[in-house]
Amino acid sequence: MRSRKLLFNTAISIIQKYNPCATWLYVPEQRQHLYEWTSRIRNTSPQTQMWAQIGTVDEAKGMLGYSTKPDVLVVQGSESGSHGRAKDGMGLLSLLPEIVDTMAKSDIPIFAAGGIVDDGSVAASLCLGASGVVMATRFLASREARISPGFQTGILRANNGAVSTTRPLLCNHLRGEYGWLEDHVPWTIINKSFVEFRQGRPFEELREMRRALLGVLRAGEGRQGCG
Ligand SMILES: Cc1cc2nc3c(=O)[nH]c(=O)nc-3n(C[C@H](O)[C@H](O)[C@H](O)COP(=O)(O)O)c2cc1C
Repeated sequence: MRSRKLLFNTAISIIQKYNPCATWLYVPEQRQHLYEWTSRIRNTSPQTQMWAQIGTVDEAKGMLGYSTKPDVLVVQGSESGSHGRAKDGMGLLSLLPEIVDTMAKSDIPIFAAGGIVDDGSVAASLCLGASGVVMATRFLASREARISPGFQTGILRANNGAVSTTRPLLCNHLRGEYGWLEDHVPWTIINKSFVEFRQGRPFEELREMRRALLGVLRAGEGRQGCG
C-alpha cells in the first residue's frame, strides 16, 4: 500500500484541482496529523469544508488546541458500522455528551454517528447535544443503495447485532487492504468466509474463493449492462 503521506499529497492535489465543497477526515496516524491535514486543506482550498470524525474524548480535547479547526466534528460511537476504535471505543449515549461538554466553549457543530437508523435515534442524538447526525449502515439497507444484493440481504438479516456481527480484520485482508492502523478495526457482519476461517480453512483458499466469486458477479453485471 502507498504511504499515507503520499496518499495525502495526492488528495491535496485533487482538492486543489476541484475545490470540493467538503472533505472528510478520519484515522490520523498520529493526532497532530489531523491538524496538519486541516491546515493544509484550509490553505489549499479555503472554501472547502472539513468534517473530522473522532471517537474519543482525548481526540476532542486535542482538537481544541489547534488554531485551524474543522468545520464539523463527527463523534463516532462504538455502534458504528465499518471501522471504529479497537479498544477504547464508547457507546454514543455516553461518548456524545462528554464530547459536547468538552467542546462547550467552541462553536464547532457536533454531529453524531453510530447506530442512528430512525427518528428515535436522531431525536436522542439531538437531545444529547448534537447539531446533526451521520448515517451509513441504514442507507446500505435502502432500495436506492447500489450494493450487491447479498451484502444488502446480510445487513437486513442481521437483526441481533451482538451475535450477527464481529470485529475482524479478515475482510480487509481478503480484499488486500493492510494499511489500517491497529487502533481501528472494522465492525462487520459474520459471513461465510469468517465462519470458515474460524473453522480452519486457509486464508489463501478463502482469498481465491472471493476472487472467483467477484469474477462471476462482475460477469453478471456486464450482462445486465450495469458493469
Ligand atoms: C460500509 C461502510 C464504509 C465506511 N467507510 C468509511 C470511510 O471510508 N471513512 C470513514 O471515515 N468512515 C467510514 N464509515 C463509517 C462512517 O463514517 C460512520 O462513522 C458510521 O458508518 C456511522 O455508523 P452507522 O453505520 O451505524 O450509521 C463507513 C461505514 C460503512 C457502513
